[in-house]
Amino acid sequence: MKTLEEIKKSLESTYLSHEIDEKLPLIEEINRLKKEKNAILLGHNYMTPDVFFGVSDITGDSLYLSKVAAETDADIILFNGVHFMAETAKLMSPEKKVLIADLKAGCSLAESITREDVKKLKAQYPGVPVVTYVNCTAEVKAETDICCTSANAAQIVNSLDSDTVIFLPDEYLAGNVQNQTNKKIISFPGRCMVHEMYTEEDILSVRRQWPEVAVISHPECNKDVVAVSDYSGSTSQMSKYIKDSGAKNIFLVTECSMGDNLRTEFPDRTFVSSCRTCPHMKKITLEKIRDALVYEQFEVKLKPEIIEKGRLAVQRMLDLSFK
Ligand code: 13P
Ligand code: SF4
Repeated sequence: MKTLEEIKKSLESTYLSHEIDEKLPLIEEINRLKKEKNAILLGHNYMTPDVFFGVSDITGDSLYLSKVAAETDADIILFNGVHFMAETAKLMSPEKKVLIADLKAGCSLAESITREDVKKLKAQYPGVPVVTYVNCTAEVKAETDICCTSANAAQIVNSLDSDTVIFLPDEYLAGNVQNQTNKKIISFPGRCMVHEMYTEEDILSVRRQWPEVAVISHPECNKDVVAVSDYSGSTSQMSKYIKDSGAKNIFLVTECSMGDNLRTEFPDRTFVSSCRTCPHMKKITLEKIRDALVYEQFEVKLKPEIIEKGRLAVQRMLDLSFK
């Protein structure tokens, strides 16, 4: 458990001192409430620094947080992230109370595809295995053979005993996986509204301005962006690359708060400032987190049939990723 002084220090590279002073009482209240209620707060890497450093007990990418959700012995899981992540936590810990501070924290990828769409594709390509990116609803996961995240997409696809794979719903991630496999990938036209905005020209112009820069992109960007990047990986893999490579100047091709959090973790590096905000992730605020704990809202509930089938798809992924 971090002290209030440590939390304060981690907020200094993002907020003005009067803003920190306003946030600290709320952070203290949330940390008291979570102890009283035996709640664990999981924080995705795209949470703002006050949520990320101030109140989240465990932080990470979607893969790691789904593993933590499956293993925790807390009574309540409050997911500081978007709705599909909280649903994944519910799939993996169905007996627990799983909360999210704002039910409208969605995802353009999760909204791009329905269970019916998957059923149609399965009818069109009988016997072809279906891999779904975790950025989809639990209902879609329930129609799936195995899930993947951006940390393990190629590994999961390559593990399947089939020459053709249906990969849903992110067409850009599918394109990047296609470059790492000999299998034929059948994709779907879903996109992340944040990462689809980046173009190859954006990267080339940053490189002209900062010839020494290390460009690190999320694989939800299109394959042309990834091709001109130095590294592409999940949010936690990006962070590991920064640590291991020792890169001094970094251009992150991803969501804005990731840069704020990494600037705090790596104070000796320079982050070229240009980023895109995910409006869904930004719906999660300290005020809403406090209310979520006080009123034990908003609870994620899933039908038993969805839990049974969706859980299998996530568990298969975890078994392959954490052998
Ligand atoms: P990660 O799985 O890399 O954490 O990414 C989740 C996400 O929503 C990226 O936009
Ligand atoms: Fe979805 Fe993109 Fe936001 Fe991630 S950044 S939650 S993929 S809309």
